[in-house]
Amino acid sequence: MNLDELRLTPEDYRPKPPSGRHYRIGLIGCGGVANAAHLLAYRDFGYEVVACTDIDPAAVESTQARWGIESAGTDPRVVLENDQVEAIDLAVHPHARLELWPGLLAAGKPILSQKPFAMTWEDAAWMSNSARDAGVTLMINQQARWAPAHAAIKLLIDSGICGPLFSVAHVRRSYQDQPDRWWRDVVNFNIVDHGVHFLDLIRHFSGRTPDAVSATTARMQGQNAVSPLSHTLALHFDSGDLTAIDHFNNIVQSRAGQSEFWHIDGAEGSISGSREFVDVTRRDEPERRLRFPIEGGWFPEAFGGSMGELMAALNEGREPLTSSRDNLNTIRIAAAGVRSNDEGRTVRLEEFVA
Ligand SMILES: NC(=O)c1ccc[n+]([C@@H]2O[C@H](COP(=O)([O-])OP(=O)(O)OC[C@H]3O[C@@H](n4cnc5c(N)ncnc54)[C@H](O)[C@@H]3O)[C@@H](O)[C@H]2O)c1
Repeated sequence: MNLDELRLTPEDYRPKPPSGRHYRIGLIGCGGVANAAHLLAYRDFGYEVVACTDIDPAAVESTQARWGIESAGTDPRVVLENDQVEAIDLAVHPHARLELWPGLLAAGKPILSQKPFAMTWEDAAWMSNSARDAGVTLMINQQARWAPAHAAIKLLIDSGICGPLFSVAHVRRSYQDQPDRWWRDVVNFNIVDHGVHFLDLIRHFSGRTPDAVSATTARMQGQNAVSPLSHTLALHFDSGDLTAIDHFNNIVQSRAGQSEFWHIDGAEGSISGSREFVDVTRRDEPERRLRFPIEGGWFPEAFGGSMGELMAALNEGREPLTSSRDNLNTIRIAAAGVRSNDEGRTVRLEEFVA
């Protein structure tokens, strides 16, 4: 494989609806992300949402009216006990998922749960195990894997253009310190909530889960959020053939100053990607850089991709790619990162056993 042989088109990396049967969706949680991304993508992908519920009557009413959803109400049974609903889209915060859990397991319908799966390792392990015991398909909405730029990077890695990988690095500089948003008060938000996207992508890109994590964090003077917003998580692999980092800097609120890059390095070549383009370089063509501009964006189409994966998995009778079982490894990295920072030591993932 060399640069001239490399092919990558938007058709390859943009998510599309599954070719098989589609499942009618019941939405639990009619908040920000459901309206700004889920329902937009489902309309574009042709998925049918037949019921929605939220504890906030105004949220139910406006969501039902905006998207023309047949059944709606503040009682979750409007979704859980609705024969029309074949798959549940769970778009509430982690604490609300715990409250809803007994009813969800009793309903027995497949679930696509928003990330982060849970705020603690213990909750995630308990929910994954209880879903397995109840025979409920549980997928976690790590939809970043279906974002066009990330899907493009994954396809390029899988083409073998880089050879065996020895490094995966994610460097993001962005503003996450909004004084009036719910995440201001979430402890360790940028590691255990927002950050799980990038930890999960490191696993997706490398195909591997680290053995240990060490973390360092920084709090910006005058910041609003309750926890430090900037961090570096170094992921250790005992085999000694791979290193990975997730680095987030919370910068001042300046769009012009924001940047995000993935750097994937292998024995034969490298991939450097942002959300707008992906570059490939090779050791056998040292003066050349092949650039693929990326079509499409994370919001909303990746959300159509993840729901499509749940439907495809149901059609094929297999576990979804980001099943709760798979996601436990992402949650373990985040939990180890928090413990490492709190205790000032490298933390092994085997400290977290399901
Ligand atoms: N890219 C992404 O994947 C992404 C982006 C944003 C948010 N999220 C995640 O999605 C989840 C929700 O975030 P949001 O921004 O939409 O929050 P939000 O606060 O805007 O919405 C949550 C909704 O859940 C409702 N709710 C609370 N308890 C409920 C219950 N018991 N039953 C039914 N509804 C209930 C609330 O009334 C609210 O309308 C969080 O876990 C967040 O991390 C993911």
